[in-house]
Amino acid sequence: MGAPHEGLASRETVYSSCFFIISIIIILAGAIALIIGFGISGKHSITVTTFTSAGNIGEDGILSCTFEPDIKLNGIVIQWQKEGVVGLVHEFKEGKDNPSDQDKMFRGRTAVFADQVIVGNASLRLKKVQLTDAGTYKCHITTSKGKGNANLEYKTGAFSMPEMNVEYNASSENLRCEAPRWFPQPTVVWTSQVNQGANFSEVSNTSFELNSENVTMKVVSVLYNVNINNTYSCMIENNIAKATGDIKVTDSEIKRRSHLQLLNSKASSCVSSFFAVIWVLLPLSPYLMLK
Ligand SMILES: *[C@@H]1O[C@H](CO)[C@@H](O)[C@H](O)[C@H]1NC(C)=O
Ligand SMILES: *[C@@H]1O[C@H](CO)[C@@H](O)[C@H](O)[C@H]1NC(C)=O
Ligand SMILES: *[C@@H]1O[C@H](CO)[C@@H](O)[C@H](O)[C@H]1NC(C)=O
Ligand SMILES: *[C@@H]1O[C@H](CO)[C@@H](O)[C@H](O)[C@H]1NC(C)=O
Ligand SMILES: *[C@@H]1O[C@H](CO)[C@@H](O)[C@H](O)[C@H]1NC(C)=O
Ligand SMILES: *[C@@H]1O[C@H](CO)[C@@H](O)[C@H](O)[C@H]1NC(C)=O
Repeated sequence: MGAPHEGLASRETVYSSCFFIISIIIILAGAIALIIGFGISGKHSITVTTFTSAGNIGEDGILSCTFEPDIKLNGIVIQWQKEGVVGLVHEFKEGKDNPSDQDKMFRGRTAVFADQVIVGNASLRLKKVQLTDAGTYKCHITTSKGKGNANLEYKTGAFSMPEMNVEYNASSENLRCEAPRWFPQPTVVWTSQVNQGANFSEVSNTSFELNSENVTMKVVSVLYNVNINNTYSCMIENNIAKATGDIKVTDSEIKRRSHLQLLNSKASSCVSSFFAVIWVLLPLSPYLMLK
């Protein structure tokens, strides 16, 4: 009568001892992997830092990346990759550019600052930025000290400084704010120093005119019936950049000022020892999945 009971109990014992042994194997594997991982690359990891950057369509751009410098130039390999692109964006090794594995999309358009590599500057110059150059790039560095990489979000669009002018009319003075190239379509907001917080949307008119390449647009905004001795600002902003033009008209002169600022330029840094991370994650994954 007790036989089935016993069978069940011993099967439970078998299961739990199996689990115990498997656990030990996993922990051992983890420990070994850690040792191997660090043996291969643990101490051989270097810091690589990238900076979120934005490219202005049609102009030359820079994808910024720095790394711990190394005096052995011949041992430095810089590889730029782009998510979704099979070939390399750029490769620099043994002191010079190596275009053999470069993707067609980037042919003839890239260069590192060769004289800056020795000081840890792996930034990439990109000629004639296109809208489609936007995406996630990886700056991958190998030196005699080790390896490291960091990702970079590259945004593309168009942005330009506004030019401020006065339009005299029989009855009134208007201000004209004009910027030649923007994309995506920006918002335009007028403010004045005297009436801070005033809403000028009813007394201004903004228009966007497509440029001949059919992507970027010219921005023109006119503010009607302005007063003398007041400073007016025209702010043009999209998800990439913000530009401001200020103008002050007095009895004797016109003062102008403008500036342009890129938005969200933050640094991202990553110390990676590739092998160690993978080797640790593999044995841990059963535990991670249980959670
Ligand atoms: C790298 O060098 C180039 C050329 O001198 C420079 O324009 C760029 O700012 C440098 N980048 C960094 C991150 O120092
Ligand atoms: C001047 O005013 C007239 C009518 O008041 C208008 O048609 C014209 O567009 C204005 N010119 C400018 C440069 O604002
Ligand atoms: C200004 O007024 C317009 C409507 O007249 C409104 O759509 C807009 O949101 C207002 N802007 C601000 C900054 O309050
Ligand atoms: C705004 O400007 C556009 C283009 O210059 C013009 O066609 C439109 O009539 C203007 N609208 C107002 C309300 O002035
Ligand atoms: C821009 O679009 C217009 C009309 O859609 C077209 O005729 C012209 O060829 C386009 N220009 C370019 C540079 O694609
Ligand atoms: C503008 O300011 C100047 C000097 O501050 C003053 O002489 C002039 O009367 C002012 N004009 C107006 C229209 O307020």
